[in-house]
Amino acid sequence: VALTFIEFNGTSHQVDAPEGSTAMEAAVRNGVPGIVGECGGACACATCHVYVDEAWVGKVGEPSEMEEGMLDFASEVSPSSRLSCQIRLTAELDGLVLRMPESQG
Ligand code: FES
Repeated sequence: VALTFIEFNGTSHQVDAPEGSTAMEAAVRNGVPGIVGECGGACACATCHVYVDEAWVGKVGEPSEMEEGMLDFASEVSPSSRLSCQIRLTAELDGLVLRMPESQG
């Protein structure tokens, strides 16, 4: 699954991740700055906050209730905000574009 992470300053990172892993794991494994994934993907730290590119919001879907609750602790939350550890990568998401908030630059 090909993914693009775009930092707040515009630097983009193309990474490739196996299906079934999460977007956070893909970022951490490839050293994408700005995605810390402090809690290891347990939806408990909000350091993996990303904005889903508009074209992809429909495919990625809505955050779960638990994720919604944790997003309250993230800064600069927008309607397209998701926690990248809760985005499970499937073939459908090939080409997904995720942007990082300013605070995670
Ligand atoms: Fe901690 Fe996603 S890695 S909430």
